[in-house]
Amino acid sequence: MDRDNRRRALVDAGIAITSELSLDVILQKLVTIAAELTDARYAALGVIDRAGTELERFVTHGVTDAERKAIGEPPRGRGILGVLIHDARVLRLDDLTRDPRSVGFPANHPPMRSFLGVPVMTRGVAFGNLYLAEKQGADAFTEEDEEIVTLLAAQAAVAIENARRVERDALRRAVLAQEVERRRLARELHDETGQALTSILLGLAVVERAESLGDARAAAADLRELVVSTLQDVRRLAVELRPSALDDFGLVPALRRLGQTVREGSRLDVQVEARLGDERLEPELETAVYRIVQEALTNAVKHADAHHVSVVLTRKNEMVSVVIEDDGRGFEPAAPRGGGLGLLGMRERVELLDGTLSVESAPGAGTTLLLGLPIR
Ligand SMILES: Nc1ncnc2c1ncn2[C@@H]1O[C@H](COP(=O)(O)OP(=O)(O)O)[C@@H](O)[C@H]1O
Ligand SMILES: [Mg+2]
Repeated sequence: MDRDNRRRALVDAGIAITSELSLDVILQKLVTIAAELTDARYAALGVIDRAGTELERFVTHGVTDAERKAIGEPPRGRGILGVLIHDARVLRLDDLTRDPRSVGFPANHPPMRSFLGVPVMTRGVAFGNLYLAEKQGADAFTEEDEEIVTLLAAQAAVAIENARRVERDALRRAVLAQEVERRRLARELHDETGQALTSILLGLAVVERAESLGDARAAAADLRELVVSTLQDVRRLAVELRPSALDDFGLVPALRRLGQTVREGSRLDVQVEARLGDERLEPELETAVYRIVQEALTNAVKHADAHHVSVVLTRKNEMVSVVIEDDGRGFEPAAPRGGGLGLLGMRERVELLDGTLSVESAPGAGTTLLLGLPIR
């Protein structure tokens, strides 16, 4: 490869890691570029999991899918790769097969003599290693090859570190949203249910001290009402925590029941229409759709002052789409607002499932939420 091509390949590698491609695509690109720049017949990149014990990813170049299948399991790190994993050092060998540490090659593995392996690491943290084998047109890899591959390995490390950070952030946000939700329910349990029970306790004291049967009956009648409404509150809280209808009957019946509850508790007319087929969706998807519709209906009651809300669920081309539309006062979706975690929580659920969510609204024009979730 001439200088210009070389430079272009290195620039490509740099661009790849700042792009929004998936980690596997980026690593594949880096491995291919490494092989091309060093004239290696084979190249591979192994990423060790966070615990540092197993390979989490194994990306190769120069081995066909069929060959890879014939070779069997990706390396476990007992032989030469183990040396790389545990030592995190550069290893350049003329003949891999003659190295005493070279053990555990499976039967169908292509023969490999010249070898160059470098650790994939940033700031002292090793993520795995990038290695090349069978230099074409020469007996061994050169010092320059080593420099290039070290550079590419550093880029791979940055890409892996970024991907892990994004993953961690998403998880942290999901946990945070969950905590906020729990706090709200805890507050409701404490404030509403707790207070109601206290009132019942006081009411019982009144019954005990009643001077006549008539007084006692009157106090008991008051108490009965309080118990009935507390029971309703507790049932509602339980449903909010986890609607049993979702587990027992599935998404659509659970949504219909939710719509009915909202209808009874407000003057909002809720319609649920579903064309999802008979097959149930994954539990994760069902929960996400349920929670999102629940929040959307809560918003319609709380903020929209709407008369009608319609929820339409359809399933097409391995996608579930949900449209929730109200005829309320609308709002400016782009405007930054403080406090509310509802819309944010929806977005997070959608992101975790690789879906899409758009909010169409304008003051005076109602609000429409469009949700698309892939079925896996
Ligand atoms: N259906 C709706 N109609 C009108 N305004 C809405 C609607 N949904 C959301 N909003 C506006 O967006 C804000 C943020 O909503 P959300 O994130 O659910 O937080 P919260 O409901 O806790 O205020 C609301 O405070 C409200 O001003
Ligand atoms: Mg809300």
